[in-house]
Amino acid sequence: MKIRKIIDKQIHEIEFLKIAQLEKKLINNISNRDILIFDSNIVKNTLIKKLLKKFPKRCIVIKGHERIKNIQNYSSLIEKIIKLGVQRKTIIYSFGGGTLGDLSGFLASTILRGVEHVMIPTSLLAMVDSSIGGKTGINSKFGKNLIGTFYLPKKVFICSDFLKSLPKREIACGYAEIIKYSLIHSKQLHKLLIKGSKSDMNKIIKLSINSKFKYISDFREKLKSKNSRAILNFGHTIGHAIENSNFYKGNLKHGEAISLGMILELKISSLLNYYPKSINSLIEILKKYNLPINYSKYLNKKTIPSLIKKIAFDKKVINEDVNIVLIGKNGGFVKKILIRDLKSILNQIK
Ligand SMILES: NC(=O)c1ccc[n+]([C@@H]2O[C@H](COP(=O)([O-])OP(=O)(O)OC[C@H]3O[C@@H](n4cnc5c(N)ncnc54)[C@H](O)[C@@H]3O)[C@@H](O)[C@H]2O)c1
Ligand SMILES: [Zn+2]
Repeated sequence: MKIRKIIDKQIHEIEFLKIAQLEKKLINNISNRDILIFDSNIVKNTLIKKLLKKFPKRCIVIKGHERIKNIQNYSSLIEKIIKLGVQRKTIIYSFGGGTLGDLSGFLASTILRGVEHVMIPTSLLAMVDSSIGGKTGINSKFGKNLIGTFYLPKKVFICSDFLKSLPKREIACGYAEIIKYSLIHSKQLHKLLIKGSKSDMNKIIKLSINSKFKYISDFREKLKSKNSRAILNFGHTIGHAIENSNFYKGNLKHGEAISLGMILELKISSLLNYYPKSINSLIEILKKYNLPINYSKYLNKKTIPSLIKKIAFDKKVINEDVNIVLIGKNGGFVKKILIRDLKSILNQIK
């Protein structure tokens, strides 16, 4: 099964395959001029073992982690790849989570001014989010993803069989983004999440990607558009502030912080009368997918001033407004709120 989307006049193609189909495709197509980059946590996978054996001199193994997305690592890897030998027709195949995918995409987009990149996302978050949309990048010492390119992979192969070895906590983090899509856009996805059976995994991934597709017709954010990329930030304005608040560094993973961010941003939607219902159905779904729901440690009288500071800094606040994504009858939309109003709303949340 394939799904496609045109982004800035380029085709973005995602193909769903079983592991045996993927093996056939890769073994037949990879050549000795290509480069394969693997996450060290998947090298026990039978297909990966075969590829490592067949192309021993063309493989690079890296342990996926936010730390690998830095300029020193980029620099040493690009020199390593050039030393291994690259040509215009070289294809970079990357197998891993979002960190390895972001780094590999950036490498592919800059080697010889761009060689083809084939992505095989292996974490749930990478399957539903980071491998979709063509953003590549690494972190600067001043912040996340500040160095990067827009560069569509030539192909994305999704094989949910990889998820069998993914730790439970990482699965939960992928679900945080999926739950986000279900709130901003897809009622069908919402229903499927409530029903929640393992056999629906490919369907859940496909609906998630289709939701993301809705908001990425262009590479850049167009705030005014009804389908702005900015809507994908639901749960992320407050979620990021929680994730980056220095007091709690390391405690929460991104998806876990987004879980709390979604609760708080949905509560704001309710307080401002955009979201009519109680937010219990969100709480139930988050619990079901092993995501945290208790935000009291992160949002209280003591932490609100620093959260607000963080939000204002992250969003490069202009004229004291901040754009926040709220949920209304028809899903997600961008709302401008004055920072001081946001502060008083946060103080009202129980
Ligand atoms: N480019 C984009 O549009 C975009 C969008 C969202 C997130 N991101 C980026 O994605 C990154 C997060 O991605 P992530 O959550 O996948 O992190 P990650 O790459 O660190 O992977 C999470 C963990 O899972 C392991 N892993 C991956 N696949 C596995 C498998 N099949 N079996 C066992 N272990 C496996 C990794 O080794 C790692 O320990 C962040 O850097 C974020 O900035 C990018
Ligand atoms: Zn996210």
